[in-house]
Amino acid sequence: MKSYKSWLASGGVLALLAVAACTPGTGDDEDGEMVWAIGGSEAQPGGIHQRIAEMWSEQNPDNPIRIEVLPEAADQQREQQALELQAGGSGFDVLGVDVIWTGEYSENDWLESLEDVRAEIEAVTLPGPFESATWGGELWAAPYNSNAGFLYYRTDLVDTPPTTWEEMCEVATSAAEEEGIAGFVGQGARYEGFVVNWLEYYWSNGGELYNEDQTQVTFDTAAAAEVTEFMNENLDTCFAPGFNTAQEEEARNEFQGGNAVFMRNWPYAYALIEDDEGSPANGNFDVAPLPTFTGDGTISALGGFNNAVSAFSNNTEAAKDFVVWAATNEEVQTMLATEASLPPTMASVYDDPALAGDPVMALLGDVLGDARARPPSPAWNEISVEMQNNLFPAYNGDADINTAVENVRTFLEGTID
Ligand code: GLC
Repeated sequence: MKSYKSWLASGGVLALLAVAACTPGTGDDEDGEMVWAIGGSEAQPGGIHQRIAEMWSEQNPDNPIRIEVLPEAADQQREQQALELQAGGSGFDVLGVDVIWTGEYSENDWLESLEDVRAEIEAVTLPGPFESATWGGELWAAPYNSNAGFLYYRTDLVDTPPTTWEEMCEVATSAAEEEGIAGFVGQGARYEGFVVNWLEYYWSNGGELYNEDQTQVTFDTAAAAEVTEFMNENLDTCFAPGFNTAQEEEARNEFQGGNAVFMRNWPYAYALIEDDEGSPANGNFDVAPLPTFTGDGTISALGGFNNAVSAFSNNTEAAKDFVVWAATNEEVQTMLATEASLPPTMASVYDDPALAGDPVMALLGDVLGDARARPPSPAWNEISVEMQNNLFPAYNGDADINTAVENVRTFLEGTID
């Protein structure tokens, strides 16, 4: 792979510093509290991350922790963390690190190595999520929550969940017409979530990005063009109005508000819809494996967040204790599942008899094994941005689809030394 150093040499670092110079400072730990920089709806007041932070602080009054709520979109979370870390700032002690950032952050020397606590973490963690927290054979973060895409559907409008994407759109379009609501909501905005959704179509059409050891590009432009075409054709029919501006929360709000028949989203949405008694979807929805183009099996993107200790933290030891605790404490890991339908990374929670009938855990058991990781490359952010810049306009009818997929292929080739 192209080394991260060459990106630095090409001026990327200057661009980052220029942005940093005009951005207000982030949280600090002057008040003696550690700061956990993490985003998403679970980081908001009342969210599960907040409750977990409170639980730690009650049990560790000498080293309390508070959350610095980062933006909703993964790309913006990364940007905010990168600004602080690039400047060597100690404002963040613990970083909620998306599984795709481990390589980049560790190559940049932004993280404390967790090799000294590796054994206790590895002993209790599922292998996939554990792997996502390593880079170059070393452990850089403590796994926290895993993730996989689900197909949510309205049980009052759909008899059996579809197994192909085409079938999904047929059912969605006719049910939507009858009900006067939209067919399908997902993550269509120009950001990381769109890349995830696009990859799920692409992988389920037989496509790949690289060979296993990432020494060769195996990008299939025909398969890529087909799925981009599929998105474009369904934009004004099966896909909900506003699809191309929707992230996870916009999609959830539409589905939860009773305005869509199907939704692609992560498991977190399950608990929120179930807790909303006023939702037309409440009591009328279920989750199924994502369809494929081939009609075989299911493929979902592997997501999730791991907690890392910032190399610039002034409270390294306590921060390390916190991340190990969140990864290995059975109560914490069980809370993720029972209170927020977030997939735990701790293996034993999946065998907890108390969770035996839980539909989210049951479906995770079916799909996690076939979930695919985005390449854990330090260059992932650049690859993702390139995919966004080409595939987003292409599916929206603003750029030629064949040129777009050729551009992606050429870019991927440039990431191989
Ligand atoms: C979820 C996933 C994360 C992914 C993001 C994209 O938060 O856990 O891995 O990058 O969604 O929107």
